Amino acid sequence: MAVKIIGTGSYLPKNVADNQFLSTIVDTNDEWISQRTGIKERHLSSGSKEGTSFMAIEAARAALDNAGITPEDLDLIIVATVSADTYVPSTSCQVQGEIGAIRATCFDLNAACSGFLFSMNTANAYLEMGMAKTALIIGAETLSREVDWSDRSTCILFGDGAGAAVLKKVEGEGGILASVTGSDGTQGDVLTCKGRGIQNPFYKSRRKKDYIQMQGQAVFRFAVSTVPKYIKHILKKTELEPDDIKYYILHQANRRILELIAKRLKVDMDKIPMNLDHYGNTSSASIPILLDELNRNGLLEQGDKIVLSGFGGGLTWGATLIEW
Ligand code: ACO
Repeated sequence: MAVKIIGTGSYLPKNVADNQFLSTIVDTNDEWISQRTGIKERHLSSGSKEGTSFMAIEAARAALDNAGITPEDLDLIIVATVSADTYVPSTSCQVQGEIGAIRATCFDLNAACSGFLFSMNTANAYLEMGMAKTALIIGAETLSREVDWSDRSTCILFGDGAGAAVLKKVEGEGGILASVTGSDGTQGDVLTCKGRGIQNPFYKSRRKKDYIQMQGQAVFRFAVSTVPKYIKHILKKTELEPDDIKYYILHQANRRILELIAKRLKVDMDKIPMNLDHYGNTSSASIPILLDELNRNGLLEQGDKIVLSGFGGGLTWGATLIEW
């Protein structure tokens, strides 16, 4: 038996903010953003009707359609997000309610930008254990609500969107071949977005709404050392060479990070597809959005070996090797 991806889907808001547009909001310019990050434009939610749950639902519907299954087939829905519309109900329960996945167990998961990889690992464990046969995993984010739109060092980096995949345990070989995830809470301070302050009869926090704060260079160093290390780890485990992999579908944070990862793996950039120029960093949604693009463009063929890998706040990281 193998756990395979049988369908993918994604959703991007219609509003697009290019670098020129951002230069009318903060003191920045297209040249700085393009050279330092590779980002040219990003999609931004048009408001509360196009929030995290809406985008997750649209991506879910597209993935189910692509997989050719009905919502009733789902045993499990996991949504990775750090930007849910509500604390309760969870985004996954909202997806379930809206699409009618009446049999599914649903919960959200927070591993920041690594969330989709953690969701895939968790769903894989459910499927391997026989606790579910078919799972829907989604990365969905409205990071535009979490950034300070007067902070030029962060607001230029992020975008909104959602991506989804359906996993199924099927007869045969291939599917998820190896996976690793990890976390280092001692470095949590390098990328934060604090929650609501405590308000109760004993204590009144003076904290105002908080925004994403990041030590960019520390995150950069972490990404370019950790991602290649764990990709090499799963390649070694499966006795594969870096060139045996057709595509490395990596978290879309920064073009320079992707180029350094390619260098450290000694692979050509044509193995490292990129869409961050159009979408910016969509956190947990970036890997499934890119996966969906490759799938819909017919670039993934049965037997292809692909690696999904990324890093995020927490700090967290993950790498998964799949035979398509
Ligand atoms: N436009 C113009 N100038 C800017 C901007 C901007 N948008 N932002 C910062 N600057 C200025 C700074 O003020 C600074 O000016 P100074 O030298 O006068 O003080 C100068 O540019 C250099 O700033 P740095 O922060 O040192 O720039 P750096 O080269 O590190 O690039 C960046 C910043 C792009 C964030 C980089 O550190 C990076 O990519 N880090 C990786 C982190 C990442 O990608 N995070 C994404 C989210 S995390 C995740 O996905 C898990």
